[in-house]
Amino acid sequence: MQNSGLQYLSASTDASETRSPNQHLLPLTAKVNPQDHLEIGGCDVTALVEQFGTPLYIVDETTLRTACQQYREAFKRHYPGESLVLYASKAWNCLAICAIVASEGLGIDVVSGGELYTALQAGVPPQKTYLHGNNKSSEEIQLAIENECTVVADNWSDLKILAQLSQQSIVDHPIRVMIRFTPGIECHTHEYIRTGHLDSKFGFDPGQLDEVFQFISQQPGLVCIGVHAHIGSQIFELQPHEDLGYVIIDTLTKANQYGLNLSEVNIGGGLGICYTESDDPPSIEEWVKIVTDSIVNACQQKQYPLPRLLCEPGRSIIGSSCVTAYTVGSQKQVPGIRTYIAVDGGMSDNPRPITYQSLYRVVLANQMSAPMTEPVTLAGKHCESGDILIKDAQLPKVESGDILVVMATGAYNYSMASNYNRLSKPAAILVNDGDANVIIERESYQDLIGKDRLPERLTLNP
Ligand code: LLP
Repeated sequence: MQNSGLQYLSASTDASETRSPNQHLLPLTAKVNPQDHLEIGGCDVTALVEQFGTPLYIVDETTLRTACQQYREAFKRHYPGESLVLYASKAWNCLAICAIVASEGLGIDVVSGGELYTALQAGVPPQKTYLHGNNKSSEEIQLAIENECTVVADNWSDLKILAQLSQQSIVDHPIRVMIRFTPGIECHTHEYIRTGHLDSKFGFDPGQLDEVFQFISQQPGLVCIGVHAHIGSQIFELQPHEDLGYVIIDTLTKANQYGLNLSEVNIGGGLGICYTESDDPPSIEEWVKIVTDSIVNACQQKQYPLPRLLCEPGRSIIGSSCVTAYTVGSQKQVPGIRTYIAVDGGMSDNPRPITYQSLYRVVLANQMSAPMTEPVTLAGKHCESGDILIKDAQLPKVESGDILVVMATGAYNYSMASNYNRLSKPAAILVNDGDANVIIERESYQDLIGKDRLPERLTLNP
């Protein structure tokens, strides 16, 4: 049988389905309707495109909520102590996504004042909000502590700002601090998204921890609640996460020597997702089982009481719940070499292929069962030769006006989007049970110049 867009669906509709969202290429509600169109969240993608235009991020609420629930439930099942899953909102931080995740009981990890402000505006409880970042400003830290969020200290600069702020008594509650360190664990992922090896800009070097614990134990206004480590992103191996459990519990016992009674550990995120049919990440359940077992075993070995266990996945929560719809425009055939199919977006709405050589898959949403007979290259519309979304894609014959859907675009697409070539950022819609709501409006040309200022002396038409 010739491949068609249906190949990405068939397994998802299997009744004995046990895979988690990160193991699917399409959102869990994806179907093909009698018109042979792709349907997501009960909405025909071609109708969504008619109503909202392209490029269009389409977020499936069911898939997003399922990922949150699977993490939450798996921790409850496998961890005998207290646990909290934080959503690493750098993957996609906006009001609606923060609100959905928080309504599932998850907390949020933010890495800037902007992400923090958004999460708070979305109603995320501050007690479940953790501020990260390797170069936080004093204002960002102040915003976090005034709102009673926890600050994850990444370096001496953070600790000094925290100590100063605590001495100024600008808040009358204890300031909750975690210490992030680099655990020295290697994993196989793109070098730009690896963070746990020792030569990383994030976190304290393990050799500095004695001094750090000593310092913080002498700060009456700071309460050191625990330690944090994250080893990298888009990881398919489980071993590094198992190793991390032991390293992190070792660090807790070290803090003990300075009279610090740490009761929380955060083992970061990193679970990978499927971008192509050959990707085979572990399920959420498998990942949680490994990390919880390793923490439990390490605590037993060290005779340390079970800490409150936090993790902070981003990609595996939002990644598979979203697709991006584009309209096909021009085509160019280079005889004997390749055919370029151009769409109306590209590196500005999905910078991952040009940044990390990431692979994606695409389907023809208005003709899902058409055989994929054409080897093509899917190009964006930016003035940059490297603006290629998919180098060797398989598609049916397509024409200008056809609707293409690139899958698994929920993580680090919108959040890394730009206005390169002054393209407007696309709209994002949330689909659920046949309803579609705009969660981010498409930028207008007016929005694009909204922050430009034209000094009077440059005005050409007075
Ligand atoms: N926690 C920390 C401290 C992190 O640095 C990250 C990701 C996460 C959690 C979430 O990791 P995840 O579960 O999403 O793998 N822009 C890159 C990914 C950068 C990841 C940065 N840190 C990409 O598009 O692949």
